[in-house]
Amino acid sequence: MKFRNLKMVDFVVFGRGSFNQLDEIIAPQRKEGKPMVFLLDQFFEGKPLASRIPLHGNDKVILADVSVEPKTKYVDQIAYDLKQEFGEVSGIIGIGGGSVMDLAKAVSLMMNNPGSSADYQGWDLVKNPGVYKVGIPTLSGTGAEVSRTCVLTGPTRKLGMNSDFTPFDQIILDPELTANAPVNQRFYTGMDCYIHCIESLNGTYLNEFSKSYGEKALQLCEEVFLNKSQWDDESDDQLMMASFAGGMSIAYSQVGVAHAVSYGLGYLLGTRHGIGNCIVMDHLGEYYPEGVRVFKEMVRRNGVDIPQGITRGLTDDQFETMIHVSIGMKPLWENALGKDWEKIMTREKLRALFETL
Ligand SMILES: NC(=O)c1ccc[n+]([C@@H]2O[C@H](COP(=O)([O-])OP(=O)(O)OC[C@H]3O[C@@H](n4cnc5c(N)ncnc54)[C@H](O)[C@@H]3O)[C@@H](O)[C@H]2O)c1
Ligand SMILES: [Fe+2]
Repeated sequence: MKFRNLKMVDFVVFGRGSFNQLDEIIAPQRKEGKPMVFLLDQFFEGKPLASRIPLHGNDKVILADVSVEPKTKYVDQIAYDLKQEFGEVSGIIGIGGGSVMDLAKAVSLMMNNPGSSADYQGWDLVKNPGVYKVGIPTLSGTGAEVSRTCVLTGPTRKLGMNSDFTPFDQIILDPELTANAPVNQRFYTGMDCYIHCIESLNGTYLNEFSKSYGEKALQLCEEVFLNKSQWDDESDDQLMMASFAGGMSIAYSQVGVAHAVSYGLGYLLGTRHGIGNCIVMDHLGEYYPEGVRVFKEMVRRNGVDIPQGITRGLTDDQFETMIHVSIGMKPLWENALGKDWEKIMTREKLRALFETL
């Protein structure tokens, strides 16, 4: 197909306190005897949000372990356990950062698809729709709330289950849930959104659809991380909408160099998505001069540390692994550098870039 036919999230609620509507929103989706399963970010264990979850009957809360980003094995285990315990469930509700939202999407799909989630890492491999799924972000920036993928680390690759069945049926955007996130974490996840904008707006796949969303998201990111003198409720509102718009921008274009390189770090070293993107972006002046200049200014203004020297002392084999994973992200390179990207980003050049990180 020449033009992308974009599957979007079905229902969206936005507003401070909108989490309180969760009970009402999911009520019509409840099926007799089948529970709603809430995947709650472990960060909220024992916190007030945990006791606001609207539990009925045999509903279940699972504290999601996101000490590492989601793995196919973890997804398979949760889906297997739920099938053993309940047979079927009414829905899966992910409450947390990008990792929990991706986990929720993946578990929903694996409730109705045979085999392992690793079988579906790629594009349009998922066979059946998942169960009803809801995403409720508690960090803003990844765009996982709107995307058609859920990124998983499997036995052989780090890649999402990209499909029309992957987007949420419902999202609840309540900026109150992101209040008080630690400054560093908020910055790293927020920069994921900023980097989505820079990569989308400077990419060869750009079109008016992506540009409209990307420019708005970029403006909001600059407002909260550059222009405002302190963080307030409005900043949480703005960053949540930036994440949404940034996600919509890349949905119709693609990300670029920072993401392609960051995936290599993530696969080999387990570097998390947000901080990994920042580590790479810090060294991409050649590719995104203005975007990197502003990025450095944001780092300075927000007093955040960007780790340096993380690839120091790695072996040739380890560099090869990262290069292999990174170079495999063909659409990202093509978006960033054009059809002849392989002539521009040679393995030697990529190795040299990894060495600077
Ligand atoms: N599906 C997509 O389109 C997409 C896009 C980008 C990134 N991702 C994925 O998203 C993940 C990164 O997400 P992220 O940056 O939101 O971080 P995260 O979900 O990995 O969470 C980072 C840490 O913050 C904690 N946390 C969550 N909410 C918090 C809050 N309100 N206050 C304090 N701590 C909180 C978590 O427990 C965790 O320890 C990666 O797994 C990445 O692969 C997915
Ligand atoms: Fe990202």
